[in-house]
Amino acid sequence: MLIKSIKEMKEIIKEEKAKGKNVGLVPTMGYLHKGHVSLIRCSKKENDITVVSIFVNPIQFGKNEDLDKYPRDINRDFYFCKEEGVDYVFYPSYKEMYPEGYSTYVEVEGLTEGLCGAFRPGHFRGVTTVVNKLFNIVNPDRAYFGKKDYQQFKVIQKMVKDLNMDVEVVGCPLIREEDGLALSSRNKYLSSEQRKSALSLSKALFHAKKLFEKGETNPEKIKKEMEKLISSYPYVKDIQYIEIIHPETLKPKEKVEKGDVIALAVYVGDTRLIDNIKL
Ligand code: PAJ
Repeated sequence: MLIKSIKEMKEIIKEEKAKGKNVGLVPTMGYLHKGHVSLIRCSKKENDITVVSIFVNPIQFGKNEDLDKYPRDINRDFYFCKEEGVDYVFYPSYKEMYPEGYSTYVEVEGLTEGLCGAFRPGHFRGVTTVVNKLFNIVNPDRAYFGKKDYQQFKVIQKMVKDLNMDVEVVGCPLIREEDGLALSSRNKYLSSEQRKSALSLSKALFHAKKLFEKGETNPEKIKKEMEKLISSYPYVKDIQYIEIIHPETLKPKEKVEKGDVIALAVYVGDTRLIDNIKL
C-alpha cells in the first residue's frame, strides 16, 4: 500500500503494533536496485511488517550536487516493492516532511567529520535529521542500512545510541554487480565507457585487499597503488579520498589490520561514486 501522509502512516503503525506486530523500516531515496532489495529481504525475514520509505531528501544534498537530476521512478519502485512483498511504501512529499517554518536538525559530531563528511558539508546533518523523522513516523523495531554507505551506517548507529532510541540498526552487506561495480542509483548517470572506468574503484579495493593479505600493512603504500590504478582509467576526474580506517572510530590507521575498512570516493565524469571493502 502506498502511503503519502505522515498522519496515516502513524495510524497504520499504531494499529499494526496493537496487533502485536513488529516493524522493519528500509529508508531509501528510491530508484530501487538489487542493493535496496537485499535490505528489503533482510527486513522481511526478521519482521512481521516491512515499510520502505522513498524520499529524495533535499536537505542532505549540497548546493552544487545532483538533487534536481537524481533519478526517480515511483511506479517502477512501487512495482518492485509489491513484488518483494513490502507491506507499506511511505512516499511523502517535500511539504509533508518539511512544512514551511521547519527548523529542527539532528547532528552527530566526530564520525561525520572525515571521509564523505569532509567533502559534503551538511550532508550527514540532512541524513540524520530525515532518518530521525522517519523513525518517529514509522516507529520501527529494526531499521536496515547498507554497508555500501559505511560512514552513514556508523553515523546512524551512533545517533540511535546517543539519543537512546529504541531501534535496532541493522547493517547489511554491500551488493555488487557480477563485474564488481557496487550497485548505486547514481550508476544510471554513467555512459557505457564511463561505467568501465567506474570498475576501477572495486578493482583497486580488491587489489588492496590482496596486498594486505600478502603482508603489506603500510597504509600509504596501499593507498598509492590504489591511486595509481584508479587514475590510469579515462574519465576519472577526481579522487576525493582513499582512506584506510578503523571500522568503529572511522579514523585513518597508521598500520593496517584485519577488520579495517578501505573507503573511497571518486568522480567518474560528473558522477560521484563511493565504495569500500572490509579487510
Ligand atoms: P539510498 O542511496 O537510496 O540508499 C538506501 C539504502 O540502500 C542505504 O542504506 C544504502 O546503504 C543502501 N544501499 C545502496 N546501495 C547498496 C548496495 N550496493 N548494497 C547494499 N546496500 C546498498 O542512503 C540513502 O538512500 C539516504 O541517505 C537515506 C538513508 C535514505 C536518507 O535519506
